[in-house]
Amino acid sequence: MNKKLLQVKIGSMVLKNPIIGASGTFGYGAEYKKFISLGSIGGFVTKGLSLEPRKGNPEPRIKETPSGLINSIGLENIGMDAFLRDVMPGIEDAGTAIIVNIFGTAMDEYVELAHRLNRIKRIDGIELNISCPNVKAGGAEFGKDPLVVQTITQKVRDVTNKPLIVKLSPMVTSIVDVAVAAQEGGADAVSIANTYPAMAMDLKSRKPFLGAKTGGLSGPAIKPITLKLVYDAFGKINIPIIGVGGISSAEDVLEYAFAGAAAIQTGTANFINPEITAKLASDLHDYLTGAGIRSFASIVGAAKSSIGS
Ligand SMILES: Cc1cc2nc3c(=O)[nH]c(=O)nc-3n(C[C@H](O)[C@H](O)[C@H](O)COP(=O)(O)O)c2cc1C
Repeated sequence: MNKKLLQVKIGSMVLKNPIIGASGTFGYGAEYKKFISLGSIGGFVTKGLSLEPRKGNPEPRIKETPSGLINSIGLENIGMDAFLRDVMPGIEDAGTAIIVNIFGTAMDEYVELAHRLNRIKRIDGIELNISCPNVKAGGAEFGKDPLVVQTITQKVRDVTNKPLIVKLSPMVTSIVDVAVAAQEGGADAVSIANTYPAMAMDLKSRKPFLGAKTGGLSGPAIKPITLKLVYDAFGKINIPIIGVGGISSAEDVLEYAFAGAAAIQTGTANFINPEITAKLASDLHDYLTGAGIRSFASIVGAAKSSIGS
């Protein structure tokens, strides 16, 4: 097999293929060992981790919609100490890139988390979830203001030399402005994007269905919207874009690649088919080989390329 066909580079991280399990839908990685060979995918992103463990939001926390999922998990997680102590030993042999997703309610929490991860050799990359309220600054989301995005990225960059991915919120006035800000702050890549604020009503109580009232929409419904964000950002930054939103087939991966995604993450689709990431890697391989395409990297951004148009 031609190794280079699917290989992609995110900063100094070389992924064997562009398929990555998305944060919050792939557990801490170990949970998927019984479904797939983790070595068959490019990597996975852990559930978002904070300094202290978090219980998350009141139930119900998930609502299915006709074309996706609204979740209000509330960033429940076991905390960084337990992750490093109890989880890491079980995923060290994963044979794929391990990317740790982190979040905080103040900038210094992000810095502390990144600083601690920097010492752990087996961790290949860090993803910053900046779609969180900045408690110290009155609760405004970190990810909305380009200046805040640049500052937080820079502060984390200062304490880590690991590949740094900034996961952008889609709820911004200009995706280009926040993507540029992440790049200026020293990010090696951006993930576009997180979920979209959404809600559902309970017909009996006439009140919001979710315990937290609102949540984030993911799945097929968001694919065309996030695809456009990727397209908008491509060519405006010179770091790779990781596309994430509603991907569940090799065709979806190709659409994202044409729009400008150098790699992709798949989230909600894992809940329908826990083997989907491995299937995407294999289907993508078959597609590229069948179409005589020499490398996945060569089709990234094809929609904006003058070659072949
Ligand atoms: C149940 C659930 C939990 C999630 N938890 C996180 C998280 O902890 N950190 C994060 O950055 N994104 C989280 N996400 C967002 C996903 O990583 C992804 O950005 C989003 O679901 C869009 O991709 P998809 O349509 O393929 O699911 C979560 C999504 C879902 C559905």
